[in-house]
Amino acid sequence: MNTIKTAIVGIGRAGWNMHCDELDKRADKFTITAACDIEPERRQRMAARYGCRTYADIADLIKDGEVELVSIATRSPDHVAHAILALEAGKHVFLEKPIALDYAGALRLRDAATAARGQLYFRHNRRFEPAFTHIRELLASGIIGEVFEVKLRRNSYQRRSDWQTLLACGGGLLNNWGPHIVDHALQFLDAPLADLWSDLKRIAALGDAEDHLKIVLRGANGRVVDMEISGGAALPEPEYIILGERGALICQGDEITLRYLPRDFNLPEEHASAETPGMAYTTGKGGQLPWVNETIGVHPSIPTEMDDIWDHLYAAIREGVPFPVTTAQALEVIRVIELARQGTPFQQTGASPLR
Ligand SMILES: NC(=O)c1ccc[n+]([C@@H]2O[C@H](COP(=O)([O-])OP(=O)(O)OC[C@H]3O[C@@H](n4cnc5c(N)ncnc54)[C@H](O)[C@@H]3O)[C@@H](O)[C@H]2O)c1
Repeated sequence: MNTIKTAIVGIGRAGWNMHCDELDKRADKFTITAACDIEPERRQRMAARYGCRTYADIADLIKDGEVELVSIATRSPDHVAHAILALEAGKHVFLEKPIALDYAGALRLRDAATAARGQLYFRHNRRFEPAFTHIRELLASGIIGEVFEVKLRRNSYQRRSDWQTLLACGGGLLNNWGPHIVDHALQFLDAPLADLWSDLKRIAALGDAEDHLKIVLRGANGRVVDMEISGGAALPEPEYIILGERGALICQGDEITLRYLPRDFNLPEEHASAETPGMAYTTGKGGQLPWVNETIGVHPSIPTEMDDIWDHLYAAIREGVPFPVTTAQALEVIRVIELARQGTPFQQTGASPLR
């Protein structure tokens, strides 16, 4: 097979563990021919693992004529500059999230990609999480009727202390997990964003960036997505709660619980009354409806895994198949993140409002 000659830039937690391991599973599609890191020890590790050429500076790597694709896994504030350098050198670029720290940066990326010979692809790998895929399938089947509210949660309690907790390093959960869950939120919205509300706090992380955030988005269709990402929540919540006009679903871990009305059941025609009600308390007849209760495993009909994004990347580069994460979608994620940050400016003092 005509493998794509690939270079990885940034041999850290993502580059070494995710990019390399995921590419190892796809040796028939990609060959790691070069690597770049500022740390000599990490360059040596790559040379030992792949026998590839290594570079300390991306400016030298992009002159490597054998490299077709540059996979960028450096720290978040470097993404725009590193991607533009590689695009200008005629390479294809696979760019880690966040693709940019602000919307202006995302627009610069788009413009550089438009002018370049190579293509820019966005690593929104959580688009292929099995639970996300399965829930999208269930909603598309109409099983819970018209969806009016979606609650997304990624909560844990961490006393994190690395650069991802420091504002000066582009840290904070909005830049870190935000791109994944904002991308999910925009997919679930299924309409252009009408407005949003946001709140960012620092609770448990040791740096000065937010580690607890909530964004409530409303689509032009009236649908609401309430998303929360937290490193300061001592108890978890289900990752998905979805409310539809004929049912609801909850997904936690690899289990989906559904409660819905049978497709052939029509709600009886009844009307609200302004008359004085009887003496007994009533709470409506919802409990008497023929609800179907079901718990199923997460198994989308067409299975997906997060690292499938490499297969889409291969198909896009070698076979001209459209890449599933479009430039417009990736840009919209950054626009929403910027709006969420502006919505409630985070106190740069780092003091938690709760302390
Ligand atoms: N898509 C995902 O699921 C996912 C998961 C984890 C991290 N990420 C993203 O990957 C990026 C890296 O995160 P990480 O946790 O691996 O960080 P990290 O600090 O562990 O690794 C970064 C690596 O880049 C190297 N580096 C720094 N500056 C460099 C430069 N100028 N040129 C070459 N190499 C340089 C560092 O030495 C280090 O090895 C972040 O932007 C993060 O948001 C994405």
